[in-house]
Amino acid sequence: MCGIVAYLGQKRAEPILVEGLKRLEYRGYDSSGIAVIGPEKMRLVRSAGRISNLEELLTEENIIGTLGVAHTRWATHGKPSTENAHPHLDHTGRIAIVHNGIIENYTTLKQWLIEKGCSFSSETDSEVIANLISFFYHDRANLDLPEGRDEPAGHLTAATRLALRELAGTYGIAVICQDAPDVLITARRGSPIVLGVGDGEFVVASDVAAIIKHTSQAVYLGDNEMAVISRDGYQTSTIDNVPVASRIEQIEYLLEEIELAGFDHYMAKEIFEQPKTLKACLSGRLDTNEGRIQLGGIADISRELVRARRINIAACGTAWHAGLVGEYLFEELAGLPTDVDYASEFRYRNPIIEEGTIQIVVSQSGETIDTLAALREARQRGALSLGVVNSVGSTIARETDAGIYLHVGPEIGVASTKAFTGQVAVLTMLALYIARRRHMSQQRLSEYINALNRIPDQVDTILTQSDTIRQVAQEYSQRENWLFLGRGYQFPVALEGALKLKEISYIHAEGLPAAEMKHGPIALITPEMPVVFIATHCSQYEKVMGNMEEVKARGGRIIAVATEGDERINNYADHVFSIPDTLDELQPLLTVVPLQLLAYHAAVIRGHDVDKPRNLDKSVTVE
Ligand code: G6P
Repeated sequence: MCGIVAYLGQKRAEPILVEGLKRLEYRGYDSSGIAVIGPEKMRLVRSAGRISNLEELLTEENIIGTLGVAHTRWATHGKPSTENAHPHLDHTGRIAIVHNGIIENYTTLKQWLIEKGCSFSSETDSEVIANLISFFYHDRANLDLPEGRDEPAGHLTAATRLALRELAGTYGIAVICQDAPDVLITARRGSPIVLGVGDGEFVVASDVAAIIKHTSQAVYLGDNEMAVISRDGYQTSTIDNVPVASRIEQIEYLLEEIELAGFDHYMAKEIFEQPKTLKACLSGRLDTNEGRIQLGGIADISRELVRARRINIAACGTAWHAGLVGEYLFEELAGLPTDVDYASEFRYRNPIIEEGTIQIVVSQSGETIDTLAALREARQRGALSLGVVNSVGSTIARETDAGIYLHVGPEIGVASTKAFTGQVAVLTMLALYIARRRHMSQQRLSEYINALNRIPDQVDTILTQSDTIRQVAQEYSQRENWLFLGRGYQFPVALEGALKLKEISYIHAEGLPAAEMKHGPIALITPEMPVVFIATHCSQYEKVMGNMEEVKARGGRIIAVATEGDERINNYADHVFSIPDTLDELQPLLTVVPLQLLAYHAAVIRGHDVDKPRNLDKSVTVE
């Protein structure tokens, strides 16, 4: 939800900022801009639309300067336009800020600032931050200068602190001022900020993707923390000016991992990467010799996990679907009652957290604000928390009591794919880990471990059907309504298949438990309606066949995901995508793959920008 980049160092800031913005474009792509402090004055260039529009404008400018801030926007307050694009300057034009988040009390602040003589030029909530800092900066009488620095950098720091105290809502910000060409200030509450610490240079960003080209050393700013960066170093403190000892961490992934590697889209790359990412996710965790599952991140709470009486899972979007698979797994394998919540609903009801409740939060980014809020609520109510997160060092990863990383590498495509299979793989291992310690026999666990080990290669064989899937997508790509049906473990996969199609193809699709179709949606079935069945060999196979008969009798077109070698399916289905056979509990790891490809091809055929779907955002850091 908006991407921030800022640079202070010895090099020209402009190309570094623009390159950083491109790395963060998946966080927002309706407008962008940069502000750089040059030898004489602040230079500001902004543009509506994609970053390529900004680049075009920049070819006509010659922006010199080694300190700057930049932003790519996902609009919340105010339409996507050049005026509303960041950076925002204060009304004197000396201070520039970029902001990710929402300032909830901005109308009151704006009114107050207008009364004090400030003028505004955008409809955004963010512009009040620039003007509020400016107000305190120019009204020196108000400034308490604990830094003891009676010069512009000290004034700016003190003014920023005062301004931040007035803000309600969430923010990740970077601030620069023309009078202080050697200082960059950043702060966060709710929205992520990472400070890359290079050799004589610093890059601040919403995400490490914009940093790794310059350095692999990073400081992840905590909530309500601030960093004041100068050319010689940086200081971290709370917003209230209590010093914080920062810890430099090693960024785990490499630049190659965020390149397209010859694919047309990140989504395609990430779908095709799944054999590799699943291997990485399972690696070191499945001990085939000893027949054990080892999950280092939960060692400290393994006792509590084994004795748990209930599991709650909270997540959003695709991660919520992975959580639903988790519900089946924990109940079936570990015998643990499990509930799954939309994270956004969790804290607005009165969730009952009994003793022995483990709260699991599932999140690719580790920054989704609703999931973070659910985590905090559950912890406050006494639950022990466990994160299933991909982004190392993210807020959710840091705030949970224990966690298991996905290790599937950075996911850039807005439609989540490899993170889903990673999340399901982690939840499967966790369910098996608990099950073995509660009641599962060694022999049974070994069967699961062996089957899990085969999954990456099995995904590989599914991917070879990509061309066939593309042909089916071509045949039906103009149909505007689809149904996705599955039972048991395949119900969450049906939801995920429908979500993928909606997100990137803008086709209306609904996922349902196959049997629920009879209770209403069957009225929609006509020869115009493609119905995707996930109909693999499993305990509910016969029942799913019955549901297919019902669709066929009404002339619906059937696309089936079935187990290799199933001849009977041809009596019902117009098209079949096959998956290799595996245990029922592991099938979601395979059945989702053809549905990801189906959505991808349909979107490309319909001419959509797959990696930047309309109105969506990869990391939703506003409620
Ligand atoms: C957004 C993304 C989805 C994602 C969801 C949860 O809506 O577009 O793809 O599943 O957020 O994100 P998280 O990072 O918490 O998994």
